[in-house]
Amino acid sequence: MESKYIEQVDRTHTCGELRLSDEGEEVVLFGWIDGRRNLGGCVFLDLRDRDGLTQIVFDPNDTPADVFSAAGKVRSEWVVAIKGKVRSRGENANRNMPTGEVEILADDLFVFNSSPVPPFEVVDGVDAREELRLTHRYLDLRRPEMVARLRTRHKVMQAVRRYLSDEGFWELETPMMIKNTPGGARNFLVPSRLMPRNFYALAESPQIYKQLFMVAGYDRYFQIVRCFRDEDLRGDRQPEFTQIDMEMSFVSPRHIFQVVEGLMVDILAGVVGYKPERPFPTMSYSEAMSRFGSDKPDLRFGLELVDLTPAVREFAGGGIGMFADAVDKGGVVKCIVAPADAKLSRKDVDLLEAKVKEMGGAGLARAKIAEDGSWTQSPLAKRVEKDMRQAINTAAKASTGDVLLIQFGPESRVHTILGGLRIHLGQKLGLVDKNKWEMLWVTDFPMFETSEETGQIQACHHPFTAPHPDDIDTLESDPLATRARAYDLVLNGVEVGGGSIRIHDSFVQARVFKALGISDEEAREKFGFLLDALQFGAPPHGGLAIGLDRLVMLLSGCDSIRDVIPFPKTTSGQCLMSGSPSNISERQLQELKIKLDK
Ligand code: AMO
Repeated sequence: MESKYIEQVDRTHTCGELRLSDEGEEVVLFGWIDGRRNLGGCVFLDLRDRDGLTQIVFDPNDTPADVFSAAGKVRSEWVVAIKGKVRSRGENANRNMPTGEVEILADDLFVFNSSPVPPFEVVDGVDAREELRLTHRYLDLRRPEMVARLRTRHKVMQAVRRYLSDEGFWELETPMMIKNTPGGARNFLVPSRLMPRNFYALAESPQIYKQLFMVAGYDRYFQIVRCFRDEDLRGDRQPEFTQIDMEMSFVSPRHIFQVVEGLMVDILAGVVGYKPERPFPTMSYSEAMSRFGSDKPDLRFGLELVDLTPAVREFAGGGIGMFADAVDKGGVVKCIVAPADAKLSRKDVDLLEAKVKEMGGAGLARAKIAEDGSWTQSPLAKRVEKDMRQAINTAAKASTGDVLLIQFGPESRVHTILGGLRIHLGQKLGLVDKNKWEMLWVTDFPMFETSEETGQIQACHHPFTAPHPDDIDTLESDPLATRARAYDLVLNGVEVGGGSIRIHDSFVQARVFKALGISDEEAREKFGFLLDALQFGAPPHGGLAIGLDRLVMLLSGCDSIRDVIPFPKTTSGQCLMSGSPSNISERQLQELKIKLDK
């Protein structure tokens, strides 16, 4: 039915707008029915839109009879127009609702569209399965908490554009369909119809292109850009995600940190009303690993790792063969001290051991400190020699009732397990203050790591990262010991950003490719255009990319980036709403000259 609303009668207010100062106004609101109650002969509706909720009253003494009767028939999620007069709710005001001091006494109601009963209730804290919410995401997105998250996302994006533009950055675009350059994250591939048997890759990031902007003299670039990576997915990873990507010329990390810190302060102050102190603290990768067992330490709580290796070495294992053995083989012995007031029971520690096993550890050695410093509740208690026990207690600054949670073996494994245990314990003991915002720069990452999949050397960050100036010579002699001019920005234990100073010298770039086992021909074939560009007056440059989804997740207090992405994929990479990925027709395959392996 054609209505006067929209065509002739405009909406006067949103559903979050009316206040006591609007009393007596004639208003028109459009929105969705959030709920209906019949009370004392009247019908009450809550009308909802993106901005909030407003209470509407239909009173048989004041409302025209046909309108009153229509109000009795509308259901949740119908979309309607309401016309009426604002009046005070007086003593019945709802102080929890921004519009709660007023209501609208309706004199007209028009139904734009009805709705079947929704598959789940459109309310905060809904207990529907995530699959169901994702299948009907358009309903899920109506829930006020989802609206708040997307509002935060919008605010962050606007803050980024304002801030960086004011700092002289230009927002420039780069292609998403690019040349396939294996080596980094696995790419999604797009077959070319015009050049059959050839493929584009979807860009995992604008990395090379933003460097080319620097070669071209554009000085400061940024882009809020979609990136694509065919990785195994989890709570903080999506196959397509968004980066706040930037690059600057004539800079050292100091300049990049200044810009990024200014941006982060601007965002945090604007969105959560918190102003972090500047400069943000920095910590080298090796210190972060050694003290927190993680390259993204959560600094909101302590529980630091304690190195017991010197004590074990001094006393040649002190009666504990496993410790001696680990140290003899070049490994370490380290612990976390669970404080006495955590009152860990034997059972609690057994559960922690189960957690350690989930993380791939063999077990969890432990010792509870008795008043005289001896160890209890520990299979090690009988064997440990007194001198080493004392040295360990001293190193751990342990006192009565504390429990030492010990790992020994190769350093990287000990760090990974104790790092994971530290986070688990911090959460379990309630040590993580949700209102804290702890920023950290982690610097001096290694250039290379050994791939778990192939056993080959690969770039930790990407192959365009400059080596640390003091380590240029270890590129060939000891690649794994070479540090990079790379840094990550960590917020509350989450890697929100990463970047580096780039190589601007084609000779050094060639040496790095060589260290990565990429032959000259291969380098030319894959990155020839970059190597060429570097020869044409490439300025010193560097940059960083912030994961927008992760940042908004933290700012919104969510645990998964799926909660802050309007239309995310599941952990198996599916869109449950549209049903992608999906089959394609035989004709499409023929056009692309592709035959499927049945
Ligand atoms: P990097 O690979 O470290 O660096 O990515 C930068 C930031 O992007 C976020 N991120 C992700 N977020 C969601 N899902 C994913 N699958 C995902 N992968 C990464 C993280 C990360 O810190 N070109 C370089 C940046 C540079 O050197 O300037 C790059 O892409 O928050």
